[in-house]
Amino acid sequence: MTARLHLYHDLAKYYDLQYSWKDYRAEARRLEGLVHRYGRSGGRSWLDVACGTGRHLEFLRRRYECVGVDASAEMLRVARRRLPGVRLVRADMRTFSLGQRFDVVTCLFSAIGHLESERDLAKTFARFADHLKPGGVAIVEPWILPSRAKSGHVHLRTEETRDLTLVRMAYSEVRGHRTMIRYYHLVGIPGRGIRFLEEVDRGLMVDPDRLELLARRAGLTPHFLARGFTRDRGLLVAGKPLRERGVVRPRS
Ligand SMILES: C[S@@+](CC[C@H](N)C(=O)[O-])C[C@H]1O[C@@H](n2cnc3c(N)ncnc32)[C@H](O)[C@@H]1O
Repeated sequence: MTARLHLYHDLAKYYDLQYSWKDYRAEARRLEGLVHRYGRSGGRSWLDVACGTGRHLEFLRRRYECVGVDASAEMLRVARRRLPGVRLVRADMRTFSLGQRFDVVTCLFSAIGHLESERDLAKTFARFADHLKPGGVAIVEPWILPSRAKSGHVHLRTEETRDLTLVRMAYSEVRGHRTMIRYYHLVGIPGRGIRFLEEVDRGLMVDPDRLELLARRAGLTPHFLARGFTRDRGLLVAGKPLRERGVVRPRS
C-alpha cells in the first residue's frame, strides 16, 4: 500500500540511520572554529534552531550550554533521548521567542529551505538576531544555491542494519526558485514487512546576495562562505554588532 508521509513525522525515528553518512562531529568542530573567528561576545551559550534529532548538539554540549528548537515533536522525541538535561523547545523558527539571548545561533542542514517565502526568511532572521547577544554570531546553512540546482536528477540511497533496511529514491525538478523533490521510501523490518511511503518536498532556494541582504536587514553583518558542509549550499555567517543598530522589522 502507498502512503503519503511527512518527512519529519513518519520518518523521524529513521532520520539518524538515513543520515548516518554525515560527519556531525567534524561539522561541530568547524562550527566552533567559525564562532572563534567571527564571534565577539565571548560566552558559551548556543541555540540550535531546527535542531532535529540533536546530532550537532550532541558534540556542542560538551563545551557550550545548549538549547534546541524544532517544530517537530517526533524529531524532538529522538533528540530528548540523545540529550538528557538539554532544554529542547517545540517552536516554529519564524515566531519563536525564548526570552534568552545566546552567543551563537545555528540553523543547519538547510532547514530554512522548508520555509515558504523570503518573507518567512526575513521573519526567521529577525528571530535569530533577537536571540543573539551583542557580538554574537548566527551560522545558517541554506538549501542548494539556485545557480547549482539541476532538474531531472535521480538519486538513490540505501541504509541497512540488522533490524532495518531503508531505501530512498528521489527525483528532483527545478521550478523557479524552488526545488520539487519526489521522495519514494521503502522501510523494511524483518518479520514485519515493507512499507512504501512517498512525499513531495518543496525547497526554497535563495541567492547568496539575497541571503546577505536579509541578514543585513535583521541588523547582522553577513559573510557568505562558498565552502559549506554540503556541496552546492555554502554557509552564511552573520555577526551581531557589539552595538545594536537600526533594524528593519518584517511585518508579522
Ligand atoms: C534537514 S532537518 C535538519 C535537522 C538538524 N539541523 C540536522 O542537521 O540534522 C530539518 C529540520 O527542520 C525542522 N523544521 C522545518 N521547518 C521548521 C520550522 N518552521 N521551524 C522549526 N523547525 C523546522 C524539521 O522538523 C527538521 O527537524
